Amino acid sequence: MADFQTDLNAMHEPSDVGSGIRVFIETYGCQMNAYDSQAIGGLLEKDGFESASDIYDADVVLLNTCSVRELAEHKITSRVGEIRRQRRNADLPPVTVGICGCMAERLGNELHKGVNRVDLVVGVDNYDKLPGMLGELIRSSETKHRKRTATGHRNDAHYVAPPSLYPVNNSHLVTIHKGCDYKCTYCIVPYTRGPQAEKSPEAIESEIKALVDSGAQEVTLLGQNVTAYNWEKDLDFAALLERVSAIDGLQRIRFLTGHPKDMHPHTMEAIGSLKKVCPWLHLPIQSGSNAILKRMKRLYKQEEYLEMVDYARSVIPDVTFSTDIIVGFPGETEEDFQATLEVLRLVKYDQIFSFKYSERPGVPAARLADDISIDEKKRRLAEVLALQEEIWNVEATKQVGKTWTGIIETAARKQGFWRVRTANNRKFLVADDRQKIGDEASAIITGYSNTTFLTVE
Ligand code: SAH
Ligand code: SF4
Ligand code: F3S
Repeated sequence: MADFQTDLNAMHEPSDVGSGIRVFIETYGCQMNAYDSQAIGGLLEKDGFESASDIYDADVVLLNTCSVRELAEHKITSRVGEIRRQRRNADLPPVTVGICGCMAERLGNELHKGVNRVDLVVGVDNYDKLPGMLGELIRSSETKHRKRTATGHRNDAHYVAPPSLYPVNNSHLVTIHKGCDYKCTYCIVPYTRGPQAEKSPEAIESEIKALVDSGAQEVTLLGQNVTAYNWEKDLDFAALLERVSAIDGLQRIRFLTGHPKDMHPHTMEAIGSLKKVCPWLHLPIQSGSNAILKRMKRLYKQEEYLEMVDYARSVIPDVTFSTDIIVGFPGETEEDFQATLEVLRLVKYDQIFSFKYSERPGVPAARLADDISIDEKKRRLAEVLALQEEIWNVEATKQVGKTWTGIIETAARKQGFWRVRTANNRKFLVADDRQKIGDEASAIITGYSNTTFLTVE
């Protein structure tokens, strides 16, 4: 088991196969993809590929894709056509297009067919093959049927995204495991990402140390179910947090996403007691109805989820929550839907990410009739969002007059301001006249606009 802990990037011998070839990567989907795109960038750089600034400047465009909802896949298919059109309109030669990520894994060779077919398809566990395949494809004299595919799950290696390729920011993503062993009935992720496989604590530690050495202050530990992390049945997520906390120079640790079922009391106690671990829990509930949760195979009941939230509040000072919600799951009655709204009222999340149920081919829920009409799904979604806004307005108003402290993360969209993030994941703006990214900033809250707070200093 232990020898699959190879860093693919370190394992890969450098070559000049990519010399003179410019690649542009567009990333869709979740943070797992954001991390993987950095790892792909690292692998390509090692083989002499150059990074292009946009599709016009590129010889190759790679789309790192998401399959979680049908719309996400449609967007990619039409993006392929759009890229080709934009190049044509700019009088540029055709570009090589590759699909990476979850769609590549789900659809494989299918992506070589149809009007928006692509040249290259590389799934989530095969990025080490990408530089070689790409070099060969570009240099080959084939003009028709240019197609290369590498898909299928492998547990022999994990990616390590090299720190040099990270954007200038004080916060960095670190994937701690891949895949998912749950089988939530609506979800395509276990099929696209394969079974859960842990990166070793040593590998995680050395990756974070390298990031800290290159100036990082904060990491976000990433995975579909970080709370289920378990290295050789010996070191669980709480123990991993403890170990990562001991890294000198690292200041803050966040993590995404936790499955409520694995958010054990001792994990919450560890989060509450470890100073570097941020008090923010993203815990997708999906539905407040026990009947729906059962049909989703989420493995918890509403009351267990609420108990967990109460316990977290008792052991993690200043903890905030965010969640994911699906409306219109097959058979969701008005009463089921009201149970979801009730959870929103009880928990008072800082933020919710809510989605209309989208049937995915081949998943267990696809056998159930997708019987909630699109108009009804839209109505429920709008109602969820309106209620959340109402709840948030009350909670946010309570913050006015308080003094908050956080770390400056990035320039705000509002000209002349920094965006600052508190440990519990709240954002506020401060004027950018004296400090810099990575500095601590404090200010008094004067108001808010959506989820961003406004201040005076
Ligand atoms: N691993 C995480 C999230 C995975 S996908 C978890 O267990 O919660 C991110 C979110 O997309 C999910 O939380 C869910 O709310 C949403 N999602 C997943 N499949 C979906 C589907 N078929 N239709 C609509 N939303 C979906
Ligand atoms: Fe999908 Fe469920 Fe796994 Fe999350 S836990 S990735 S929702 S199957
Ligand atoms: Fe999408 Fe794949 Fe992430 S389906 S949400 S990119 S794991």
